[in-house]
Parts: sequence; C-alpha cells; structure tokens
Amino acid sequence: MSFAKHPAGHRPAAGDRLEVEIDKLAVGGQGIARHDGFVFFVPDAAPGDRLRVEVRVLHKNHAEAEILEVLRPGEGRREPPCHYAPECGGCNWQHLEESVQHEQKQRLVLETLKKFLPGQEIPLLPFVPSPRSLHYRNRVQPRWSDGRLGYFKRRSHDFLPVDQCLIVEEPLNAFFRRPPPLPTGDTARIELRLTAEGKAEASLQTSTEGAFGFSQVNRFQNEDLIRTVLDWTQGLSPATVWDLYAGSGNFTFPLIERFPHSEVVAVELSKTLVRLAREKNKSKQAKFHLSDVQAWTRRRFPPPGSLVVLDPPRAGAGPEVLRSLAASDADEMIYIACHPVSLARDLAAVLRPDSRWTLTRVQAFEMFPQTDHVETIAQLSRRRG
Ligand SMILES: C[S@@+](CC[C@H](N)C(=O)[O-])C[C@H]1O[C@@H](n2cnc3c(N)ncnc32)[C@H](O)[C@@H]1O
Repeated sequence: MSFAKHPAGHRPAAGDRLEVEIDKLAVGGQGIARHDGFVFFVPDAAPGDRLRVEVRVLHKNHAEAEILEVLRPGEGRREPPCHYAPECGGCNWQHLEESVQHEQKQRLVLETLKKFLPGQEIPLLPFVPSPRSLHYRNRVQPRWSDGRLGYFKRRSHDFLPVDQCLIVEEPLNAFFRRPPPLPTGDTARIELRLTAEGKAEASLQTSTEGAFGFSQVNRFQNEDLIRTVLDWTQGLSPATVWDLYAGSGNFTFPLIERFPHSEVVAVELSKTLVRLAREKNKSKQAKFHLSDVQAWTRRRFPPPGSLVVLDPPRAGAGPEVLRSLAASDADEMIYIACHPVSLARDLAAVLRPDSRWTLTRVQAFEMFPQTDHVETIAQLSRRRG
C-alpha cells in the first residue's frame, strides 16, 4: 500500500491517501488541514496532529477525509475518558484535553464573529469553563433498541448499546444499566431527564421539541449564564424588559427579581413551557406570551429604554427579528446563543456601518464539554446622543 504525497496543483480524488497536518478545528468539530492549496476536513482530529488520511468525499474547494493513522499526535490529543467514544456518535471531542476544547471554542467564536463583522472590534472576554466536564447533562436523548439504551455510531444509523454514559448526571445512568421496557419497535428515541427535584425520568420522545420541552442541559453552567446576564445589566433601570425565546422562564424569573419595578414581557412558542412559566409566575409585573418571536416583533416595538434579552434556538433569531429590534428605541440587547454562526449572522444585521448600536462585550461559555458546541453571550448597547 503506498501513501503518495498529493501532487502539487492537482485536485485530490476520492480514495487518495496523503499526509496532512491539522491547523485547527472547525465549527462542526472536524480538523482543518491545508495541503497543496486544498482544504481537508478531518473528523476526530486534534490541532497539531500529523495524520495519514484517505479522501472520502470531494467538494469544489474542499474535501472530507478520514484518519487512517495518527503519525504524530497533536499536544492536546488524549485517550478519551469514555471507552465508547471512538465509536459513539454522542461526543465528538472526547479525544481532546479540556484546555484544548476551550482554546478551540474561544478561537472559533472570535474567528466567526470577525468573519461576519469585518472591521468590527470584538470585545471578547475570557472563556468560562464548565464547573463539570463529565456527568454534567441533566437531559439526554439516547436510542432504545431491543431492551438496551445507546446511541447511533459515528456518522451512521447503526445502534451502539451503552451501559454507562460519562456525560450524563450519574442518576440518569440507572436507565442505561436497566433500560425502561418499551412497547415499540427498534431504535426508538428516548428522553431521559433529571427533574429540578433530582428525580430521574424516562419518556418516549415523540416530537422534535422533546418529551419535556426545552431546558438548559448543564445546570451547573446555566448558573454562570444567569449570573452573567444579571451582571451585564448592572446599572440599568429599564422600564420594560423583554425576554424573547423565554422557555419556562430560566432568565425571566431572575430578571423579575433584578428589576422589581419593570414591566417584564416574556415570549415563547412552546405551549408546555408557557404553561409551566405561567404556573410558576407569582408577580403581576410579568406576563408570559405564547407567540412566535418573529410574528411578535412584526407587530410590536420594545418601548424606549427597554432591555431585550434573546435566547433563540440553534438557528438563531434571524436578521428580520434583529433588524426590527435594532430599529426600536430599546437601549440594550443581550443575546444568548448556542451556535456562533447564527449569532454572528444576527449581529451582522444590527452592526452595519451606520448602526446606532455597538458591541459592548462577548463571552463564550463551556456548556457542552466533550463536544464542539459552544454557548456565547453578546451584549449590544445603543449609542447615546
Ligand atoms: C435555547 S432555548 C432557550 C429557552 C430559555 N431561555 C432557557 O434558557 O431555558 C430556545 C427557546 O426558544 C423557543 N422557540 C423556538 N422557536 C421559537 C420562535 N420562533 N418563537 C418563540 N420561541 C421559540 C423554544 O421552544 C425554546 O424554549
């Protein structure tokens, strides 16, 4: 078997084998290597790895390649703490030291924002690691097949039975050891969660929203998110606070406490979550509205001086929502994002050259250790005068 160096200037072909060196990791988690002017995306790679790879899929300007052999491991490569990790489709960064996961996420946030906001200064604060890097998830969606729980294998729909998952909070592992009986056929999707009272529950997942609706999966790091949002509102006294994509009030209730004299308007699309929030809400100052945020912002502007908090799903709020908020007389926006590209695209809709808004600060948080996902908070302030 020969591993010829890729001939300079020639496009590689599927099946070619070559040696590459990984520069850095991309959104999506793969390693990026450049070789003879061509870009290769390589899953399961670590920065600094020297690899022998095989080209699998060719695109116009890049190729997807798979590792055949690690010739020289990058500094942050490690033996994954979970022995299922090399096969399991659940975590894609277990082979990286946590410090490297953090460095890569911080860089990804910065580079993504710079790319979408050319010429804009990015006031990026230090990265916030998660209080726990294993056993942090209180909600997870494994598969059930033939009386076992597990996950799909990497890049496949083949079932991998798992007896213990290292990223879930320990009480949920009882379900992996003794899966609940299910009357369904194979590979059903199950949702496991730990309630606020610490009770482990399992349910068949029937909708994309999940059996229980959205909640932050890393309750330890969620406390940092809430604290940060509140810290960044120090010194503000908005008459009105909007909490868009409010869920069951994760940020709304702390905001109600912080601003006891403000009107608080929460908007959320899920009936289940709005019902939960309304049941919990004891204050007269806050109202939870069941609405699509886009429809809401088409009909209403936040009143002058408002603080707007947004925490949209991965796809982001979208430029239309951001443009509408930016055109209002709101004073401050705090955007909590679980995907840096959606965040950057949405910020670009506000931070145009003639914009009345400035990017005050940005901070990235480790919310999903052992994966390439990153949570980011950005604050926008309206220029006075
Ligand atoms: C990332 S979660 C944040 C929820 C909440 N802020 C929290 O911290 O728990 C995004 C929320 O947006 C809701 N959502 C998704 N699309 C929406 C839309 N178009 N309009 C309003 N809410 C939406 C989801 O149901 C989910 O609760």
